[in-house]
Amino acid sequence: MNYQRYFSRGADLMQESAIRKMGTVGARVPDLISFAPGYPAPDSFPWDDFRAITTDLLTAREATTLQYGPTRGFAPLLDALVGVLAGRGIAASVEQLLVTTGSQQGLDLVARVLLDPGDVVLVELPTYTGAITAFRNVQAELVGVRQDTDGIDLVDLEAVVTRLRAQGRRVRFLYVVPNFQNPTGLLIGLAKRQRLLEVAAKHDLLIVEDDPYGELYFSDFASAAETRPIKADDDEGRVVYLSSFSKTLAPGFRVAWVAAPDEIVAKLEIAKQAADLCTGALDQRIVWQAIERGVLAAQGPTLRALYQQKRDIMERALRDRLGRTMTWPEPRGGFFIWTRLPETVDAEAMLVRATAHGVIFVVGSAFYVDGAGRNMLRLSFSQPTTARIEEGVRRLADAIHEELDLAGQGVGAAGGGASRGTGAPRG
Ligand SMILES: Cc1ncc(COP(=O)(O)O)c(C=O)c1O
Repeated sequence: MNYQRYFSRGADLMQESAIRKMGTVGARVPDLISFAPGYPAPDSFPWDDFRAITTDLLTAREATTLQYGPTRGFAPLLDALVGVLAGRGIAASVEQLLVTTGSQQGLDLVARVLLDPGDVVLVELPTYTGAITAFRNVQAELVGVRQDTDGIDLVDLEAVVTRLRAQGRRVRFLYVVPNFQNPTGLLIGLAKRQRLLEVAAKHDLLIVEDDPYGELYFSDFASAAETRPIKADDDEGRVVYLSSFSKTLAPGFRVAWVAAPDEIVAKLEIAKQAADLCTGALDQRIVWQAIERGVLAAQGPTLRALYQQKRDIMERALRDRLGRTMTWPEPRGGFFIWTRLPETVDAEAMLVRATAHGVIFVVGSAFYVDGAGRNMLRLSFSQPTTARIEEGVRRLADAIHEELDLAGQGVGAAGGGASRGTGAPRG
């Protein structure tokens, strides 16, 4: 049968996630080192705490633990989220919260509730691929806004909104990842966050703020104060805030949440009813207990030290082996190093060569809505061990040098290439 004719227009437009696709490649090639997905380090999961919590929950045989639950979320978890948000400077009531099955579901629900086909969503150039797919799935048009070394360029933002509005386009919201953005690792400066709220008010835009990495700041360049969410200063109720336990506890639970004005949350709840009725009851209870027992609080310093060390190792290896060929902004937190190769290099071709050398990454173009990024690579340092990071960069360097030599642009020919750190200088 040819099923093509049965698919909806929406299904025809759906695109497979470039990152998920790399997972399939990774599973097929033996001894492959993957810098592709933003997976946490599995040895960072608090296994013993989770075992104790799960044993207690299942031993208690409380019926609701394995039952359907309210769509909004498990009430004690919602109460605990109020505290988590307060710790980030956000005053939210329980009525303003919805537990979601990962932040990815939050993005999908936001798209369903706020967007009609043909509406415009503004996104950073580059931006998170999962947001691109969620917004495109409801047939929104994505328009990019440039970034500076400290995140979104507000002059460009105003120019883009003004141009689109003059064309009669319905610009609905701006999607931003202010803390250690995926893929660039950039951090929006505090003063800029304030000005962003002012620009949003001036142009009557909502802001969808996605914050899975805020806890993962590296002490050499950033502090908790610098990760203060935009939502914390949102006096008008313009910000829909998403966050997740995927990077701090474990993504396998699929527990995340949205904090937004009551009316928006009420609509998101209805959209979620159709999607999955409720997030897993056992998962929500494990996360709730991890908060109550101090497991989440203890994870913060451990994860910051772990990922900072991994970043250092990947950066050192890149500097030693590819410092004359690649540049990158210094990641101040999060999971990623966003690297730029000479303009002539095509990351897609490079990926084929790198796979043959036993290493993969995500090609930069996956993160751009305007076709740019052909010579960019996103390297994730979060999951591989430090030894695998070093070996992976060695393989990557071999692949890149081979490609450049074939093109007659070896390191010698490149005349020293660009220096590192041009995106976001240290300090
Ligand atoms: C910016 C961003 N938003 C959302 C997500 C999805 O996270 P979750 O596991 O909570 O669905 C990710 C995962 O990598 C991410 O990087």
